[in-house]
Amino acid sequence: MALRNIVKIGDAGDFALHSQAREIKRFDDRLKTLAEDMIETMHKGNGIGLAAPQVGILKRIFVMNVIPEEGNFVIINPEFLDKSGENIDYEGCLSLPGMYGKVKRSDYVKIRYQDLNGDTHEMEATDLKARCIQHENDHLDGIMFTEKTIGKLVQESQLIEGNSDEISDEDS
Ligand code: NI
Repeated sequence: MALRNIVKIGDAGDFALHSQAREIKRFDDRLKTLAEDMIETMHKGNGIGLAAPQVGILKRIFVMNVIPEEGNFVIINPEFLDKSGENIDYEGCLSLPGMYGKVKRSDYVKIRYQDLNGDTHEMEATDLKARCIQHENDHLDGIMFTEKTIGKLVQESQLIEGNSDEISDEDS
């Protein structure tokens, strides 16, 4: 495993953050290595999710670890089967360190996705996990959370007191 460089907004390669990622059709060792590297890079950055465009790879894969007891997930070629509810909360992004903004997301999502073997699964998620899935899926479509932010972006120190602990590890 190896750490990958996270593309930040303003970097020379930041077009990757604004580009449509391609469907994955080849489930080989190279893809497994990418997923392992992304998981290591996400944990090193204290993030709960990381999408391939954030490491400069325009492929439809993201990793997440929202609920530590559930471990890491590798989500490939995700599609939404269902969404409902509404939830407005702060979120952050490893591609824009230290900045947070309120984004309206669905409170519940159901997705279909493939794993590293190409096998198909379905997943339901609520709350922060649902938010993370929507944030990461947006990365695959070249959308940064800042394009959906309600109100101003704030720095971590400006987050409403009492929320900051919860927010600080939401970067994805
Ligand atoms: Ni992000």
